[in-house]
Amino acid sequence: MQVDPQKRIAVVNGGGDCPGLNAVIRAAVKTAILRYGWEVWGSEDSFDGFIKPGKMIPMTLDTVRGILPKGGTILGTTNRGNPFRYPVKNEHGEVIFHDYSDRIMDKMKEMSLDAMVLIGGDGTLTIGQRFAERGLSVVGVPKTIDKDLLATETTFGFDTAIRTVTESLDMIHTTAESHERVMVVEVMGRNSGWIALEAGIAGGADIILIPEIPFQVEKMVEKIEARRLAGRPFSVVVVSEGATPVGGSKVYREKGVEDPFGKLGGIGAIVAGMLGSRIELETRTVVLGHLQRGGSPTAFDRLLGTRFGVAAVDLVAAGQFGRMVALDDQHITSVPIVDAIARQRLVDPNDQMVQAARAIGISFGD
Ligand code: F6P
Repeated sequence: MQVDPQKRIAVVNGGGDCPGLNAVIRAAVKTAILRYGWEVWGSEDSFDGFIKPGKMIPMTLDTVRGILPKGGTILGTTNRGNPFRYPVKNEHGEVIFHDYSDRIMDKMKEMSLDAMVLIGGDGTLTIGQRFAERGLSVVGVPKTIDKDLLATETTFGFDTAIRTVTESLDMIHTTAESHERVMVVEVMGRNSGWIALEAGIAGGADIILIPEIPFQVEKMVEKIEARRLAGRPFSVVVVSEGATPVGGSKVYREKGVEDPFGKLGGIGAIVAGMLGSRIELETRTVVLGHLQRGGSPTAFDRLLGTRFGVAAVDLVAAGQFGRMVALDDQHITSVPIVDAIARQRLVDPNDQMVQAARAIGISFGD
């Protein structure tokens, strides 16, 4: 065992929660303590440990005991905690943004923290990159159920999300068939269609709508009618929240202080409405929403989260800062954070998986 008793590191997670986060936290804490003999601190609710009193907690082997099967994150999280643009309500109830980035730099010094392991999606990692540019020793761990970061083959959380969606589709099938209805199931994924595509195939969807392949409602009607005439008077449509009709634009459910452009959501009901006037069958919409981020992580996500957590601490030990751990051809590697946040992993409309889906009769509405 290499022992470097001087080192102290902080573990921070930011943005939405994701199954497998606790596996990363556990692995990072255990590796730091058991392999290197370091001290570890956890920042609660994203960067709030650096900003608010009492929210920086010591992480020990006891703190992480028993958390591997738990969904969510023991540190808590928020997607409204960007230290460079931190929202605070004034006495009139208006939201004012503050730049608290100095507090993070100062607290690192004050607590003699040598490095930060930052677990997040592209938003949080962009914050990490800004701190890296200011000289903070940071290593990143990619986190998202959307699998939309090009720099890594996959992310933990995705496998659990598609398990949940697949199981939901199994349940939706039985009610669709009993009532002879078209069930439109809206799933997450932001601008990428991976959740809809993979869970749609695994869950036996008849139509899958993804952002990368704009759809035409007439093509969907053709598919649903062909099934009805063939004695299958029900259909399951999986629609990704970022899907758009040909020539149409994305649908947003809400605008937030941190998201002036809003969060995607609502396309499912619109698709059901478009179908409703054109087909004989009844239509219903199900929005799976945050169910997809919940639950106990699959074995795959626990394993990947653990490998990422170990690798992140090894990067700190090697002084490889400004880098993010990644999976490449089943091997753990690392890439500059700046490259990781720049490029999204989208579905290639000619992807083998799309072709396989088409081969078994799944329509993409095109
Ligand atoms: O990036 C993960 C994700 O779950 C997306 O799939 C979804 O669009 C978004 O986060 C939802 O964010 P929120 O939890 O803020 O509603």
